[in-house]
Amino acid sequence: MPHDVRLKVVKAPADWDAFHRIRRAELFTSKGKMSPYDENHADDRVPENTPYLLEVDGQAVGVARLDRRENIGIIRLVAISATRQGQGLGRILGDLLDREAMVAGIEVLRVNAGRDVVGFYERLGWKAAPWDKSELRGIAANAVQMQKPL
Ligand SMILES: CC(C)(COP(=O)(O)OP(=O)(O)OC[C@H]1O[C@@H](n2cnc3c(N)ncnc32)[C@H](O)[C@@H]1OP(=O)(O)O)[C@@H](O)C(=O)NCCC(=O)NCCS
Repeated sequence: MPHDVRLKVVKAPADWDAFHRIRRAELFTSKGKMSPYDENHADDRVPENTPYLLEVDGQAVGVARLDRRENIGIIRLVAISATRQGQGLGRILGDLLDREAMVAGIEVLRVNAGRDVVGFYERLGWKAAPWDKSELRGIAANAVQMQKPL
């Protein structure tokens, strides 16, 4: 059966709720991380950073943020809800983010990938490439820096 898949910029209060819920579950309390999560982080609200929600048939299933730095885009806090992982939605989210970035004139994407998801990014055409050591702290302390030309 065909599905209605949409990448939405997070604006409405209900979308912010779903966005925080997915992030908290998949990135902050999963894998025993238990780091504190700040729903009011300033980085989610600055104009050059865009928070996105992936919806399938009207249901929120994934999140990501795209931070624009001139012709470079940094994607952050990417997650698919646990019950929807392994069904190709991460790939769809990646493809839709590539498209958003290209439309915005971004030529290269960067990410701090968790060690356990390096393979996921490789499947989507990313390659390990150090880009800013100063970013490797906090929840990204053990991350692998990766890059993808668009
Ligand atoms: C990483 C994540 C976004 C992937 O989403 P997903 O919907 O499960 O991924 P998909 O089903 O679209 O998989 C796409 C491809 O990547 C591969 N893949 C998925 N997760 C992988 C992993 N952890 N390691 C290696 N390969 C992986 C799949 O096998 C698939 O390959 P194929 O299309 O060539 O068959 C999801 O597992 C997730 O939210 N994890 C928890 C949060 C997290 O760690 N986010 C990353 C922060 S940097």
